[in-house]
Amino acid sequence: MISEFVFSAVHLKVDHETQRRSASCIWCSKVCGFILLLVFIMASYVLSSERKTLLFGPYLMEEDLSEDALRDVVHSIATKVKFRARRVPDVSELMGLEEHVFSVVPRRFLPDVKNPCWFEELRGDVSVDPYGSNMFGRSFRQIQLIFEQLSGSFRRRLTRRDGKLQRLRCLPYFYIIGQPKCGTTDLYERLRLHPDVRLTPPKEPHWWTRKRFGIVRSGERPNTRFPLDHYLDLFDPVALQIQQSLLGNSSSNIITSEASASTMWDNNAWLYLHGNSTGAEPPSLVQDFIHALQPDARFIAILRDPVERLYSDYLYFGTSNKSALDFHQKVCESLRMFEGCLRDAGLRACVYNSTLNNAMSVRLQVGLYVVFLLDWLSVFSRDQLLVLRLEDHASNPALSMSRIFSFLRLGALSDQRQRQITKRPASNTRRLSDRDLGPMRPITRELLTLFYAPFNQRLAEVLQDESFTWDGRSEHT
Ligand SMILES: *[C@@H]1O[C@H](CO)[C@@H](O)[C@H](O)[C@H]1NC(C)=O
Ligand SMILES: *[C@@H]1O[C@H](CO)[C@@H](O)[C@H](O)[C@H]1NC(C)=O
Ligand SMILES: *[C@@H]1O[C@H](CO)[C@@H](O)[C@H](O)[C@H]1NC(C)=O
Ligand SMILES: *[C@@H]1O[C@H](CO)[C@@H](O)[C@H](O)[C@H]1NC(C)=O
Repeated sequence: MISEFVFSAVHLKVDHETQRRSASCIWCSKVCGFILLLVFIMASYVLSSERKTLLFGPYLMEEDLSEDALRDVVHSIATKVKFRARRVPDVSELMGLEEHVFSVVPRRFLPDVKNPCWFEELRGDVSVDPYGSNMFGRSFRQIQLIFEQLSGSFRRRLTRRDGKLQRLRCLPYFYIIGQPKCGTTDLYERLRLHPDVRLTPPKEPHWWTRKRFGIVRSGERPNTRFPLDHYLDLFDPVALQIQQSLLGNSSSNIITSEASASTMWDNNAWLYLHGNSTGAEPPSLVQDFIHALQPDARFIAILRDPVERLYSDYLYFGTSNKSALDFHQKVCESLRMFEGCLRDAGLRACVYNSTLNNAMSVRLQVGLYVVFLLDWLSVFSRDQLLVLRLEDHASNPALSMSRIFSFLRLGALSDQRQRQITKRPASNTRRLSDRDLGPMRPITRELLTLFYAPFNQRLAEVLQDESFTWDGRSEHT
């Protein structure tokens, strides 16, 4: 078609009187057409090979996808796995970064209340709706409804102390910190059935890791920060109940929590705050701030075989063209990127490298549990963290719930309540449509199992529990 067009275009210009010139032009257009055709074929070849490399990502050529080459990549990663202690920042550094937070949360909480709570002096106009500007309320209708109810009783809830109007404020007594696709929703739903546990939505405010910096969705750039006060508002329903029990002259055993599954691992915001001025690792982590403000807080992490977790994460968060092949390609591409990073930088630098994390098409780093756990243990003591496995929780929820209740120092339950909590059907957020995609490919499983093995091994050592190696295939549910 192109050559035809050229041919006729040339023809229009032909001077019909000169046969010879016309003939030479016909010859010329044939040559031109041939050259154009050649260019066209070459261009389409170049374009299609470019499409091929795009399909496998910028790091992958076809020969790189051979199984042996991929095993080499994973072996190369294994040789570079070195767990090193981090530098823990001083409280003064943290205070410099979060002045407002440190000015709001007191060093000491109310003594007769199990949950961390305090009386806060009311600033501003009493007649203004205290929840009117809350950014959580603006984003979630369900929370807005709760705030509307709270607004009605707000003035009645204020107490006068030392001639000042005060309101009761609370933070969580414990946090469910992770990991995504490991059963945090099920734990949360069972826990809320305990009469001394009060949980209000949202299950996952993601304030410490994201909203505090104005990041609304993972991977996005920071925007307007959600102030601490907006986060505290989320715990006002429990503060109200605690206040009522205080008025009744009884000490309060009510505790509250939240279950943002990003708390354990997501420190991606640091890059936006500190740029590359601080070297390769984040100078402070989420847990440093929680520790400085709530040194007695308790944490529950539920983990599962990281290979299964990754596939579940891909199925849940993936948007289009999900298949076992697509997963395999994304895993290969991400393994290569991770290996590339480890060539120039240390393990922690790569695990917390926000640029790398945002570039990897599957969230490999989320399954490197021990890297995060060691960093939590750099500030909190071992007995403040309860680490469970989803595999155990799924096969015996009564046992894992009783471990949680004693970890949280919760009172004994009636048999009826116990049955209700245990018999409750499992909750999860899996999409029905994902069940049809089938299992991952055996080679993907082999590569991922190899990749996670040294991390699981170290995790099992730290927790002194061999089951965290996930190498007994028979125990899988
Ligand atoms: C709480 O105790 C105080 C002093 O002991 C007493 O005056 C008050 O009536 C009690 N309030 C309730 C609600 O029992
Ligand atoms: C990193 O630092 C260099 C030199 O200070 C600067 O030119 C560059 O823009 C920085 N890059 C990022 C991503 O902040
Ligand atoms: C983080 O990852 C990016 C992309 O892989 C890389 O260019 C950068 O050098 C890495 N930074 C560090 C500190 O390792
Ligand atoms: C998914 O597949 C469809 C049809 O094969 C294609 O049109 C679309 O561009 C693909 N999307 C992505 C994100 O690869």
